[in-house]
Amino acid sequence: MQLDTVIFPVAGQGTRMLPATKAVPKELLPVYDTPLLQFAVDEALAAGARRLVFVSHRSKPALEAYMSRDAELEADLDAKGKTGPLADLMSTGASSDVQVIFTYQEAPLGLGHAVACAAPYVGQGPVGVILPDDLILNPGCLAAMADAYGQSGAKSLIAGMEVPINQVSRYGIFAAKAPHGDTIPATGLVEKPDPAVAPSRLAAIGRYVLSPDIF
Ligand code: UTP
Repeated sequence: MQLDTVIFPVAGQGTRMLPATKAVPKELLPVYDTPLLQFAVDEALAAGARRLVFVSHRSKPALEAYMSRDAELEADLDAKGKTGPLADLMSTGASSDVQVIFTYQEAPLGLGHAVACAAPYVGQGPVGVILPDDLILNPGCLAAMADAYGQSGAKSLIAGMEVPINQVSRYGIFAAKAPHGDTIPATGLVEKPDPAVAPSRLAAIGRYVLSPDIF
C-alpha cells in the first residue's frame, strides 16, 4: 500500500540534547553529512508519499528553509560547474511532484496534539507518521509498515523494537499477543515501566500508520 501523506511532528523543544539544540533544531543535526530530517524524508518518499506535512514551531525556521528550494544557490553551483554539490542539494526531496506543507503547533502540548495539528491536511487513506529524531537506518521501514497495514486489518500500526530488559524504562512498552504474520496485535502500552512489571521487551518507536478516522 502507498502512503500518500506522511506527517512529521517536529515542534518539540529538544531539551535533552541541549546545548546542541540551542540554535540548531535536533532534526537538522547530522549523521556525518546527512541531517536526521533527510533520513526521515527519504523514508517517507520510499513509502510513496506525495504530501509531506511538517508540524513545526516558529522557533525552528531552519526546518522550513531546509525543505525549501534555494534557487540562488542552485544557479550559483550550476554556473560554477559544481555538479556533485548541486546533485546533493537537489536530492533533499523538495521536488515539484511532492507537496511540502508546514503548519505550526503554537504550544508544546505533546506528540498527540502535534499529530492532530496535521488533521486539515490528511486525505482519505491511511497516513504515515515519522518522528525524525528516532533514527532508523532502513529507508524501507515505513514502506514495510504500509504493506503490513494493508494485510493486517489493523486500524493503526506502531513500529516496535525489542530492547534489553534494563532499557524498558526508557520506552513505551507493548502488552502484546502472539505475532500474526509481520504484525503483533497489541493489547496495551505502558509508558516507561519498571523492568519488574514491564509487559514485554517490545518498545514503541517513532513510526506509525494511522487510519484517518483517528483524527
Ligand atoms: P520528544 O519526546 O523527543 O520531545 O518528542 P522533544 O520536545 O522533541 O525533546 P525533549 O524531550 O525536550 O528532549 C517526540 C517527537 O514529538 C515531537 C518532537 O518534535 C519529536 O519528533 N513533539 C513533541 C512535538 O511535535 N510537539 C510536542 O509538543 C512534543
